[in-house]
Amino acid sequence: STPSLLILPGDGIGPEVMAEVRRIIDWYGTKRDLSFDVSEDLVGGAAYDVHGAPLSDDTMAKAQDVDAVLLGAVGGPKYDSLDFSVKPERGLLRLRKEMDLFANLRPAQCFDALADFSSLKTEVVSGLDIMIVRELTSGVYFGEPRGIFEEGNERVGINTQRYTESEIERVARNAFELAMKRDRKLCSMEKANVMESGVLWREVVTRVGADYPEVELSHMYADAGAMQLTRWPKQFDVIVTDNLFGDMLSDLAAMLTGSLGMLPSASLGAPMANGRPKALYEPVHGSAPDIAGQGKANPIACILSFAMALRYSFDQGDEASRLEAAVERVLAAGHRTADLLGEEGRAPLSTSEMGDAILA
Ligand code: NAI
Ligand code: MG
Repeated sequence: STPSLLILPGDGIGPEVMAEVRRIIDWYGTKRDLSFDVSEDLVGGAAYDVHGAPLSDDTMAKAQDVDAVLLGAVGGPKYDSLDFSVKPERGLLRLRKEMDLFANLRPAQCFDALADFSSLKTEVVSGLDIMIVRELTSGVYFGEPRGIFEEGNERVGINTQRYTESEIERVARNAFELAMKRDRKLCSMEKANVMESGVLWREVVTRVGADYPEVELSHMYADAGAMQLTRWPKQFDVIVTDNLFGDMLSDLAAMLTGSLGMLPSASLGAPMANGRPKALYEPVHGSAPDIAGQGKANPIACILSFAMALRYSFDQGDEASRLEAAVERVLAAGHRTADLLGEEGRAPLSTSEMGDAILA
């Protein structure tokens, strides 16, 4: 049957970058005879404006039903003063939580044409290809108790870092499986020196590692990991870490490769009836209110997120590689959106011109 895809463009530049993905999807339908059953819906502020909630129950149900969800970005200044329970981000958190997307895959790959653009020396990043696996549905962003409470004559803000063994085990297993398909090297990062959850994390990852003797497993404190990632990132292949550290380390890794506008991600859950994981794909960047509506956004992160969907949800690894190669070729030919030009005086491509170049 035709593979199904739910598209949630969201806010700010989300709809702008997603429009370029729609053109690529159409291209697949007419030029490759590869069709998708595509539906589109609201998320984030766009959904709040219509439904008073950042994700309607109806949209949630659709997301549970499709082979893959592709999301643009959510949020914007217009929604900053909303109550936490209806903030745009809550739409995304609800998708992750209810689809149980516990493993967030963030590749940090340096396209050679952009090696000069990285904030690090060319030799440190050229040829870089690492994958950060971030636990996504537990840890300090979800642990209870949480809140701002009265304590004596002042208030206290509380979040709780909490991990069960099974939560650690399933994300560790996912990371080991990935390492088996790559360079068979896995580095687990936590802070076992000062956190109980870190002690348990290290113990469980080590135990799971016994099932993967071919994978070379190492452990690192997450703060030291941040240093090593900027010193010599090519020492890593796959990194597995918790929700909070993964959030920061993957943003750090983002800057190794140049621009937020280049970075895709996948969030995977348990296998569905068809054997493939529940999945949500999205660029790492946000809604970029500073450039929204100006045709300046780089659509590559969203396009590469669709490439990951081709690979992980639609069994189209070859087409995914071809799409990635098209992006590489366009960059090698010198095409750049504004975010990839820095101080250079060249005229940048608009969002749709970059889409044109990749399609061509
Ligand atoms: P951001 O990622 O939206 O923007 C950071 C900087 O990178 C901005 O200068 C922006 O112009 C630039 N940038 C990002 N994506 C780009 C692209 N595709 N092409 C060219 N330049 C790009 O992060 P920021 O500014 O912290 O947050 C803005 C809004 O987005 C906030 O409301 C935030 O809550 C939300 N957000 C949403 C995320 C999501 O939907 N997953 C993730 C991060 C932030
Ligand atoms: Mg982040």
